Amino acid sequence: MGIYLKIVLSSLLLVVLQHMARLIYTCGFHKHIYNHQPGPCKYLDGVDFGSEDIATLPDGKAFITSGLLMPSASTLFRQLYADRGAKGQIFFFDFKAPGSGAIPLTIQGDFNTSDFHPHGIDYWKDKTSGKVFIFVVNHRRKFDAVEKFEFVPTAKALKHVHSYVDQAIYFINDVAVTGENSFYFTNFLSSRSQIWGAFEIYLMLPLGSISYFDGSYYETVEEGYLMPNGLALSLDKTYLYMATSINGAIKVFKRQGNAGQLIFVQEVKLYTSADNPTINPLTGHLLVGAQPILFKTAHTLEDPHLPSASQVLHFELTDGILSKTTELYANDGSVLYSSTVASLYGNQMLIGTINQKLLFCEVRTM
Ligand SMILES: *[C@@H]1O[C@H](CO)[C@@H](O)[C@H](O)[C@H]1NC(C)=O
Repeated sequence: MGIYLKIVLSSLLLVVLQHMARLIYTCGFHKHIYNHQPGPCKYLDGVDFGSEDIATLPDGKAFITSGLLMPSASTLFRQLYADRGAKGQIFFFDFKAPGSGAIPLTIQGDFNTSDFHPHGIDYWKDKTSGKVFIFVVNHRRKFDAVEKFEFVPTAKALKHVHSYVDQAIYFINDVAVTGENSFYFTNFLSSRSQIWGAFEIYLMLPLGSISYFDGSYYETVEEGYLMPNGLALSLDKTYLYMATSINGAIKVFKRQGNAGQLIFVQEVKLYTSADNPTINPLTGHLLVGAQPILFKTAHTLEDPHLPSASQVLHFELTDGILSKTTELYANDGSVLYSSTVASLYGNQMLIGTINQKLLFCEVRTM
C-alpha cells in the first residue's frame, strides 16, 4: 500500500472514530441521574400524551401543547398514538387556581382538529384590547404550519384566526412571537422525511436555522445549527434564547431594533439535551426543560411506554445574560419521562414532557 493511500485511509479512520466517539458521548450512556424535586409534585389529571411546550402569561394563565406527532415519527409510534387515542390539543392551566387542574380547550372556527399535532407555543397579548393570541407550531399531515388562535376565556376555547404556511416553514419546532403578526421560528431539521432526518441527526449535520416573519416576508436570520429547538424572548423582547438539543446549549441573541436581525451575545453549554427555554413571567429569569440521557429519550420517542430521564435547569438573567445555574428538578424516569419544558410562577412549577404526563410541583428550594 502506498504511503499516500495509508495516510488517506488512516485520516479517514480517525474521522470516523472521532465522529463515533462524539455520538456515543452525546447519547449519554455514561450518565447517571440522582433524583430530586423542589417540593411535593403530582401529575395533573387528563394529560397523558405529552405536554411538549408551555406559554405562561404574567397573570398566571398557561397554555400547554399536547399530542405531539412528528412528521418523522415511526410506524410503531403512529400505531401506539392511535391505539391510545391520543390527539392534538391545547390544555389550559391557571397558576392562580391550581386546583382546577389542566382543562382541554375547545377549538372554534374553520379548523381541522384531526390534523392538529401541536409542538411549540407562544402568545401575544394586545395591549389595547386585552385580547390574547396563541401561536402554535402544527405538524399537519402534509406540511408544517404556525396556527394563530384567539383565546376566548368565557368559553374556555381557542378561536382559529390564521394559518401561516410558507416554503420557509418546513420542519419547525418552536415559535417566539414579537407582535400581533410577527414571530421567530426554528426549522430544526431540513426535511420531514424520517430517513433523511435520521441521516441528518446521526451525521450531526448543522442544517437547522432560525427564521423571522415580519408580517409580510419570511427571512432566515441564523443558520448552521444542529437541531435548533425551543425559543424564548426576554420579557422586554430584546433578547432571544435558543436551545439546541444535540450538543445541548442555550444561545443568546440580541435583537436589532424591531427587525428580525440577531446579534450573537452568549453561548452556554449545558451538557444535556436542552429542549424548550421559557421565561418566568414574574421574575424574567430563564428555565429550560432538558433530557439528560439522550439514548433513553430516543427509546421514549419510539415507544412512549419506555422510561427516560428528565431535568429542569434555572438560570438567572442579568441584562439578558445567563448566570447562576441551578438544577431545579431531576428524575431518572421513575416519575417523569423526557421533560421538554418547565414554567415557573411564584412557588409553583409545571413540567411538561414529549409524550407522557404533566407534572405540577411546589417549589420550596428557591
Ligand atoms: C382533516 O385531517 C384528516 C387527517 O389528516 C384528513 O384525513 C381529513 O381529510 C381532513 N379533513 C378535511 C376536511 O380536510
